[in-house]
Amino acid sequence: MRISRPLVIEHFGDISITSPVKTLSMASSVKTGGEGYRVSMDELIGIAEKTVIVVPVKDEDLFLFRNTLYAIPEWSPVIVVSASPHNIFEKEVEVAKLVNEQTGKHIILVHQRDPAWSTVLTNTRLSSMLDGNGLVRYGKGEGMLLSILFSKWLGAEYIGFVDSDNYIPGSIHEYAMIYYTGFSYLNHKYSMVRIVWSHKGKLTGAYEYGEETGISDAFIKYFISLFGKTISGDKRVVLRRKGRVSQIVEEVLNYALSVARGIGTDIVKTPNSGEHALSTELALNMEWAGGFSVETYELAFLLSECFIGSRDGSPCGFKEGVKILQVESLNPHIHSEKGDEHLAGMLAESLGAIYYSKLNNQLVSKRIREALKMYADNAEPIKPRTYSLKGVNPVKIIEEYIAQSKLLHQFGSRA
Ligand code: GDD
Repeated sequence: MRISRPLVIEHFGDISITSPVKTLSMASSVKTGGEGYRVSMDELIGIAEKTVIVVPVKDEDLFLFRNTLYAIPEWSPVIVVSASPHNIFEKEVEVAKLVNEQTGKHIILVHQRDPAWSTVLTNTRLSSMLDGNGLVRYGKGEGMLLSILFSKWLGAEYIGFVDSDNYIPGSIHEYAMIYYTGFSYLNHKYSMVRIVWSHKGKLTGAYEYGEETGISDAFIKYFISLFGKTISGDKRVVLRRKGRVSQIVEEVLNYALSVARGIGTDIVKTPNSGEHALSTELALNMEWAGGFSVETYELAFLLSECFIGSRDGSPCGFKEGVKILQVESLNPHIHSEKGDEHLAGMLAESLGAIYYSKLNNQLVSKRIREALKMYADNAEPIKPRTYSLKGVNPVKIIEEYIAQSKLLHQFGSRA
């Protein structure tokens, strides 16, 4: 694997963020010379074995879920955190079992709504994860938090996340390879690697059966299944540079940083990238948010603590600083489209993570409200549910959970 080196690194207090570097080669050779940062296969495998890949899943197409599991390199243990209905979860278990039989991959499946979490979390600092029924709340962030506890229990040094609604298995493979390469490049205690999708796929135009499109029916059906509808007009598959939510949140976060620093910046390109990875040390020592606030909150929290907060004299919790590498993939990101309402909710959650952080001020607040007015029917910014792992003993929690759970499945074992 080979990535380019960053042209720019910007510092915000103790947080450094690189301008996006790019995948230059997915299988590089020492003999070709070339430039950039190259990782040998041996080193890559060494890091991959220490990296857990987490797959959050909530009622996704089982075809996509299966391909996600196939696409993850065999060196890394996989943790699936499911919030799917129980009949679907049973099928996810079957799929994971088969993938393990075929490939030997170590796969752990946890159900987010497993009643066993209730007894285990009740008297810990994570009890606020439980809802009125005593079950862990639905939410992508909550699922990710459970996976962090498991990753620590597994002894992993790094944790990488990939969504399970992705139509391009090759992109999932590339994201994992980027995580390993990024950690080698950063070589730092508190590190984070965030993916900038090269493009997001979207269908516009007429893809109607029987029409003279010059494209096979099977291909047309595939795209209709991707985007769920047939549209009349032009015949084009569009690869957009950015998703809509990402574009708006990116603009707002850069604006907040520009206002705080008094020097403009557009360095952040990955405010809410679901595809990202971090060192376990960082994961255990930062705060987390529930739902879809989670990715934006990671940056909002770190920048609040180590940039805004440290300017007021409060020490940043990460003595060695936090290094964030942004990497642009070659593969486009094509995933299931879940509709405008879903996007509006996600926008209100993501912007809420900034609104309710130390990055907010009068100017930022105005910008957030303008964005919500224009793109989310004037919704209120949603206050994130936040969680801290300080004082929590992940190994104890997971051992107790394993002893009590009837829904946990583990195929294969630690290499
Ligand atoms: N365990 C668990 N619990 N998984 C969940 C939950 C939940 O409550 N909700 C969603 N997921 C899983 C989905 O099955 C999918 O694999 C992944 O989390 C992302 O959820 P989607 O509903 O598909 O979100 P999206 O694709 O629209 O948005 C993605 O991209 C955004 C950036 O544009 C997500 O990764 C967002 O977090 C991200 O901000």
